Amino acid sequence: MPAATDDYVLGRDLHGSIRLEAQHLLFKMHNGYALNPKIPISSDMKIAEIGTGTGIWLQDIASQLPETVQLHGYDVSANQFPPASLCPPNLTFATLDAFGDVPAHLVETYDVVHLRFWCAIIRGNDPGALIRHAIRLLKPGGYLQWEDADMGKPTMRGDESEAFHKLGMSVLRTFNVLLDWIGDIPKLVADHGLTVVDSATRPFDSTL
Ligand SMILES: C[S@@+](CC[C@H](N)C(=O)[O-])C[C@H]1O[C@@H](n2cnc3c(N)ncnc32)[C@H](O)[C@@H]1O
Repeated sequence: MPAATDDYVLGRDLHGSIRLEAQHLLFKMHNGYALNPKIPISSDMKIAEIGTGTGIWLQDIASQLPETVQLHGYDVSANQFPPASLCPPNLTFATLDAFGDVPAHLVETYDVVHLRFWCAIIRGNDPGALIRHAIRLLKPGGYLQWEDADMGKPTMRGDESEAFHKLGMSVLRTFNVLLDWIGDIPKLVADHGLTVVDSATRPFDSTL
């Protein structure tokens, strides 16, 4: 059952899933990695993704990590989870509301928590509840990897793109989805007590 706070403005149908998987490829080509290589790997580590969607990021890193690493995908909706029969045994999915309390058995469980594409979900420019949720899941000394799209400041080429962007931004504003916080992610997580070990904002290469 989706939680009461589920008011996702993007779709979870076939097109929604293809969009997420295309975005994964785009960000992997943009960054040159899925899991940041600065994060140390150990055979008994646990990695979670909050708001996992189709779980494509976890599926990708599963193929690069030891089979003993535990990978857990959480989302407020199970609609886009891949079938368990297609996942390796160390990759599982469950529903969890990222704006709610972390269940006691998950507190300080993970070496890495991954967040990506919260830009169209956070309302009122305030990702505080999400950041607190992610930190509660992390072991002390664990890593938060966060990738997002600063859609408020895109590099636009062409009248049609500019018109589409303007329309998209006005639709998001009607849902109180504001984008001013995205450029401040390093400061926001530091304000919550994390140490920023890597941070970059770059436009896409023209080939992307
Ligand atoms: C844009 S998708 C990103 C999916 C994935 N992180 C990726 O990068 O491919 C955002 C996801 O967040 C989920 N979501 C929205 N509100 C949520 C909430 N309150 N708690 C957990 N997940 C949520 C949506 O269901 C959706 O799957």
